[in-house]
Amino acid sequence: MCGIVGYCGPKRVLPVILEGLKRLEYRGYDSAGVVYLEDGKLVKHRSKGKLSNLEAIIDDAIITPSHIGLGHTRWATHGAPTTENAHPHSDCTGDIVVVHNGIIENYHSLREELKAKGHTFTSETDTEVLAHLIEDNLENDLVEAVKKAVALLDGSFAIGVLWAGMPDTLIAVRNQSPLVLGVSAASGTFLASDIPALLPYTNEVIFLNDMEMAVLTSESQDIFSLVDGKTIEKKIETIKWNAAMAEKAGYKHFMLKEIYEQPQAITNTVSGRINPETGEVNLPELNLSASDLENIDRIIFVACGTSLHSALVAKYWIEKYAHIPVEVDIASEFRYRHLLINERVLTVSLSQSGETADTLAGMRIAKGLGSKVITICNVVGSTMTREADGTIYTHAGPEIGVASTKAFTSQLAALFLLTLFLAEQRNTLSGEERLKLGKDLIDIAGVIEKEIPRLQEEIGTLIESYYDARDFLFIGRGLNFPIALEGALKLKEISYIHAEGYASGELKHGPIALIDKDMPVLALVPQDDVYQKSISNVEEIRARQGRIILIGTEGDAHLSNITEDVIYLPKVADVMNPILYTIPAQLLSYEIASRRGCDVDQPRNLAKSVTVE
Ligand code: G6P
Repeated sequence: MCGIVGYCGPKRVLPVILEGLKRLEYRGYDSAGVVYLEDGKLVKHRSKGKLSNLEAIIDDAIITPSHIGLGHTRWATHGAPTTENAHPHSDCTGDIVVVHNGIIENYHSLREELKAKGHTFTSETDTEVLAHLIEDNLENDLVEAVKKAVALLDGSFAIGVLWAGMPDTLIAVRNQSPLVLGVSAASGTFLASDIPALLPYTNEVIFLNDMEMAVLTSESQDIFSLVDGKTIEKKIETIKWNAAMAEKAGYKHFMLKEIYEQPQAITNTVSGRINPETGEVNLPELNLSASDLENIDRIIFVACGTSLHSALVAKYWIEKYAHIPVEVDIASEFRYRHLLINERVLTVSLSQSGETADTLAGMRIAKGLGSKVITICNVVGSTMTREADGTIYTHAGPEIGVASTKAFTSQLAALFLLTLFLAEQRNTLSGEERLKLGKDLIDIAGVIEKEIPRLQEEIGTLIESYYDARDFLFIGRGLNFPIALEGALKLKEISYIHAEGYASGELKHGPIALIDKDMPVLALVPQDDVYQKSISNVEEIRARQGRIILIGTEGDAHLSNITEDVIYLPKVADVMNPILYTIPAQLLSYEIASRRGCDVDQPRNLAKSVTVE
């Protein structure tokens, strides 16, 4: 989704903004722009496509001595991704500029009213109305004018405003779209949609809440509520991530780097939370009392995309080991359903970003119905973590590739911790069983670490016969069914090959009609409790001349009788298979996309953090 960067301070503004925008590229965008103040005039540059296009047209301007400005990457919602629709947008005079992330739902009527008053529009965007609304309300006080303009807006918005008449000040407002300030005594004040844009300059941040406005100068950040007008004293928080963590470190793509970072991310998520001697789980940020836990008779997971798939795995784990019924809901459906939720339901929102609009809305609705709400999230201080009753942080570090990898397996690790915690509280497993399962979780990172380089090599060769496929099926059973869904999602996201994930047993209820020599099927067939059933499903595909890739257990000689394309994985506890089997599925997608020359880290039309509905 759109990315906002703002800066005022002693540094030259353009390099700061361009660097910030680069670090927000992962969010997904299709045009970009910057504005800065030079000799009392606003200078604006915009371009469609990648940031490199923008950089090419501002090559000469980079030396501007300006110290204040805004930048934006736009993910088109209203109007095509053209230069005219790229932000920043200006009022009629050209002295006011705005950048915006979100959707102004009532923009059409506002635009008509403003046109009737004589305002001239130059774009098709919802954002442009804001610049004209500010102009319409501006006398001498920009703060008052922005306040009045914002009061007229319906929808979600994070905005940055700059006015030539107030050359030292930026204004920022947040409502239902993320916005964070960076502060540094030496380097000035920063504004961004997400933390990675700030990391080269500062680790000290201030998170804005909904309906808060920040008036920013090089040395000051005054924040107040747009609800009651009162000044708000904000806490400055220190972020532990550093700038290098959001760089490629020699890998060809962020996604590949992040695949390789998974053992560390899982270890960071697990360590300190489980006692290897006793199997006891410690989740202090969860904030659930013994009586809260006793009261729960159902758990509902709410999530989107890859996070939804980790919730599907958790359903198998929690029902089996903690004996609590689990439902998994797509957040965009959940929020508009007639929900039967009360205080006996524990709602868990799952989100790597903590900002996904649908998941956040679902979480708020559940809370309103009396449910306790916890979140499993990778971003400290994100909106979900601030609104939930409790949090389990995944410690995956910043994930830049749009296709989620390490955030997913870290979610699985966190969800397994939650499973063990619930089993302990509800007494559904013996101490010995918990200890064994805890050890399985601790050990899985080491297994993956050993396997990744070999898998990448083998899969890199194997895909030569598959990279030009038009369609793909992924199948799995039990705990590995969600991994089949995740594998298919990864492949379609980054390679644009049409791919579907299915429960192996569902194959004969429809998709088997598609099987022929042009439809490769990747089947996950570990030697687990549903192994024989999985093999029968694979035989059905073979009987119809399907092309088969099998991912199964080392030493299972039968697999090579079925197909020559077998990827072997070491035998681990069945319960850890979803974490292990995810790795070859990710690598297969990565290698195919890379072979096809796709933009792996920034697939077309996708955004990392989906902050609109
Ligand atoms: C987008 C991203 C996916 C992600 C999904 C949910 O679609 O491209 O990678 O899984 O949003 O994001 P969340 O931050 O809530 O996990």
